[in-house]
Amino acid sequence: MAFPNQRKRINRASNQIRNLVAETTLHPHDFVAPLFIEDGENIKSEIPSMPGYFRYSLDLIIYEIQELVDVGVQSVLIFVKEGDDKKDNTGAYAAHPGGLMQQSIRAIKAAFPELLVMTDVALDPYSSYGHDGIVDIEKGEIVNDATLLALVKMALSHVEAGADWVAPSDMMDGRIGAIRDAFNLNGYSHKGILAYSAKYASALYGPFRDALDSAPGFGDKKTYQIDPRNRKESVDEAYLDEAEGADMLMVKPGSFYLDIVRDLSHSSNLPVAVYQVSGEYAMIKSAAAQGWLNEHDIMMESLIAVKRAGATVILTYFAKEASKHLIKNYPNS
Ligand code: PBG
Repeated sequence: MAFPNQRKRINRASNQIRNLVAETTLHPHDFVAPLFIEDGENIKSEIPSMPGYFRYSLDLIIYEIQELVDVGVQSVLIFVKEGDDKKDNTGAYAAHPGGLMQQSIRAIKAAFPELLVMTDVALDPYSSYGHDGIVDIEKGEIVNDATLLALVKMALSHVEAGADWVAPSDMMDGRIGAIRDAFNLNGYSHKGILAYSAKYASALYGPFRDALDSAPGFGDKKTYQIDPRNRKESVDEAYLDEAEGADMLMVKPGSFYLDIVRDLSHSSNLPVAVYQVSGEYAMIKSAAAQGWLNEHDIMMESLIAVKRAGATVILTYFAKEASKHLIKNYPNS
């Protein structure tokens, strides 16, 4: 009988050798923590479909950010929930210098000058129709080019308030180029653009829309977000975003779209970010709450998986939890 010469189990035999040959590692610096902010004071309200994740008022978000910073997270992505009185079909309030987003950017940068502050750019929190762009009500269509102007104003108001990066998530054609031009012309050529290049029309955004009260009032987002049946379209979008001046590309959601992460990490030399979205978080949390999955292990495995697929940056609601674990286990890394 022939014995195997290749003993694959040798490289798996102990923690030490497994750690030595590991191809993928995580670090708190890899993470961007999404933050949900609402108007008011002393508010910490749990999002029902995102157990353990909260919307904060500005006074309390500062403590939450301190906790993130203490465990090594150095980047955040801000979302705000605006009241219905701030919503219309033009999204005009999105660019208001006194808006909650702009106030939040200023307050967070004042408290944490070193923190990398990114902001979401799309009209949905400001749209009476819950859409990312301006709606032609008669046709029931989302109008591309009129939306670009609103997005440009919104993005400019964010960098004027002190944001380091903007993350356009609206999927309108030409928005990266329009924002890059506006930054160049207005003295903000040093600001970064994280393009949601491959943003799919996914059912995994449900809990997020609960968090911001931003579900579409009619129809869905399939005329602007990518069809989950397609791969090439994402590569196409990524090429365009890169040519238009993006500094980083994003794939969203994460775990169902790892083939796309791999495609983009091969087709572009820009860093690729993955957004592990609200529905992914909710699935893990709910299965863990039932005792059906081990929460800690599945959290770490899900993050490793996106990194292994080719992501350099991970936007995740687990940023704090995962970082706590990482600094406990690798305190000097
Ligand atoms: C807004 C936006 C959405 C998410 C990020 N930015 C929702 C949507 O497109 O409807 C989803 C994030 C998540 O589910 O965690 N354009």
